[in-house]
Amino acid sequence: MSASEYQFNQKHLLGLTDYSKEDILYVLDQAKYFREILDRPVPKVPTLRDKTIVNLFYENSTRTRLSFELAQKRMGADVVNFSASTSSTKKGESLKDTIQNISSMKIDMVVVRHESPGVPHFLTKCVDAAILNAGDGAHEHPTQALLDMFTMQQIHPDLSGKKIAIIGDISHSRVVRSNIIGLTKLGAKVVICGPKTLMPVFVSDLGVSVSHNLEETLAWCDIAMALRIQLERQGNTTELFPTLREYHERFGIKLKHLEAYPDFKIMHPGPINRGVELESEVADSDRAVILNQVTNGVAVRMAALYLLSGGNRV
Ligand code: CP
Repeated sequence: MSASEYQFNQKHLLGLTDYSKEDILYVLDQAKYFREILDRPVPKVPTLRDKTIVNLFYENSTRTRLSFELAQKRMGADVVNFSASTSSTKKGESLKDTIQNISSMKIDMVVVRHESPGVPHFLTKCVDAAILNAGDGAHEHPTQALLDMFTMQQIHPDLSGKKIAIIGDISHSRVVRSNIIGLTKLGAKVVICGPKTLMPVFVSDLGVSVSHNLEETLAWCDIAMALRIQLERQGNTTELFPTLREYHERFGIKLKHLEAYPDFKIMHPGPINRGVELESEVADSDRAVILNQVTNGVAVRMAALYLLSGGNRV
């Protein structure tokens, strides 16, 4: 398909499974324009001034929630924030009733984070609004993967053939699932690395290579993304690895690795467990692009909101 024939026809952003390589590259391309706006003295455009968006968060968040809200406000949208802990959910109201009542207030788009996989898909059956998945259980976190790929493109503009290592708690991570789907569509080579106990049972179905050796992985890769050890999703961690200290010894990225392997950059979706996935000095080093990821998150979410609101190429 030539670039002139391509049309972005997505109504929702439920996961990267439903997005083609062309869709992903298109969102990333649009995000460049919004990233440039963020550096202007007045980082605002009136693109969504006729839109009303609800941020429906059933799970805690700092980066995703605030960057979606900033993205919406910088594009002039009317924004309402729903927090399950202070809502009528606490009185037993169902998810379906909640979203249908909110929809009756005339909203155009819903950003949803929920601990249950599939909730964003379910919402598409309940209301007409465009649905954006801000993380559903251990299933997908598409805007995180898009901002990760955008950040990787700033280092290596063409990700085809680039060597990306994703290290840590693979089995509980929605970030790794969305990144594997997106990166492999863009032609990157992906290795996932971590203890056997933190690999999912379906690891061979993921279409990527698996390593249990951190040093070999870091010597190989162009970019290493460490994942948070998700203590809240693991239940009894003592069944998965002996101690956090031992995990850090075997799979934590340390200053000695930066010296031994001078080329790779470090990413982390956050929040970081300092001293577990990354030695604290590594997180603060100039090899880490972790705060760039956060800035880029606003631009990528502006692009996704713009395109799903029916916008054309900017
Ligand atoms: N990366 C990420 O999803 O962070 P939050 O949980 O703070 O949104």
